[in-house]
Amino acid sequence: MRVLGIETSCDETAASVVALDGGSAPEILSNVVLSQIEEHAAFGGVVPEIAARAHVEALDGIIEAALADSDVSLDQVDAIAATAGPGLVGGLIVGLMTAKAIAAAANKPLIAINHLEGHALTARLTDGLDFPYLLLLVSGGHTQTVAVRGVGDYQRWATTIDDALGEAFDKTAKMLGLPYPGGPNVEKAAASGDASRFAFPRPMKGSAQPDFSFSGLKTAVRQAASAIAPLSDQDVADICASFQAAVADALGDRVARALARFRKEFPGKANPALVVAGGVAANRTIKATLEALCSEAGFAFVAPPQKLCTDNAAMIAWAGIERLRAGMAGENAADFAPRSRWPLDSVSAPLVGSGRRGAKA
Ligand code: KG4
Ligand code: ZN
Repeated sequence: MRVLGIETSCDETAASVVALDGGSAPEILSNVVLSQIEEHAAFGGVVPEIAARAHVEALDGIIEAALADSDVSLDQVDAIAATAGPGLVGGLIVGLMTAKAIAAAANKPLIAINHLEGHALTARLTDGLDFPYLLLLVSGGHTQTVAVRGVGDYQRWATTIDDALGEAFDKTAKMLGLPYPGGPNVEKAAASGDASRFAFPRPMKGSAQPDFSFSGLKTAVRQAASAIAPLSDQDVADICASFQAAVADALGDRVARALARFRKEFPGKANPALVVAGGVAANRTIKATLEALCSEAGFAFVAPPQKLCTDNAAMIAWAGIERLRAGMAGENAADFAPRSRWPLDSVSAPLVGSGRRGAKA
């Protein structure tokens, strides 16, 4: 089985070919990702119109490169899988329309993929994980815990009631004059900071409601920064370190809750696992906190390689393969319209913002 995947939901233009032959492990034959970070950096966040235009300009070449790298020709692929949502609608239109055109011209089925399903199933591509497992998705647009029970069978257990975690990092960086994207720069500054200098709040810590919240923390950072302005480099480092410690503590509390729920809901599951995905998973303080929680709770901690944790098309191609082999590819998606909002779990009641807020939402 070979599937060409296309991803254009935010600020990465990506294409990939993934293969699954018989009983052997899946293989990523190509994985081409063009980041638009430089085009958006001057604006301190993703500008939807710029993103859509950049996708239009780059996508043909990226798809060509992915096919060339994989040594697979278009008539050798079994299907085209494209992200159809959620995301910025301009980018989604570019990717999905391109996929429809290729599918029609090559006479191949088209599979419309939910971007979040791509993230949710990546650990099966990289680590061959069995269902069920717990997913923590922490990116610029999403902060969710999801019980991944099967292909197409997801239950969202918690989401953010305001900002996504990556967005909180990006906004904090902006307030402190650090460049975009904020996450890596906050982490870098934090390395030489004193995490105990500022006692920032731990939003939702101890709350019976399982969700996340980060906007109060961001406000506390703003107040602390303006109280001691102008900021020295050491002040910035101390604020970053204190912010990161608060985030790790609050996130750890929420994840511990989800691990306990997982134990309760899947008591028979041997070797349960927590999978992390999204750009924020790169943060070493956060990773160390999650690793410690997992070892305490008897969970395996699975962090796919960074390249497959952040937005890419291999996860979309893989979701296409998962759907094909489960007989869940659906009708040929030639009529499928892009969806800027598309929750993985149609049962959980949407919260304010549904876990997607800010520039990347
Ligand atoms: O998954 P991703 O590449 O893109 C989407 O949001 O879809 O995530 C990007 C987010 C940004 O908000 C960025 O600031 C954050 O991940 N990020 C980090 C780190 N690296 C990236 N946040 C904290 N620490 C990091 N090292
Ligand atoms: Zn993503």
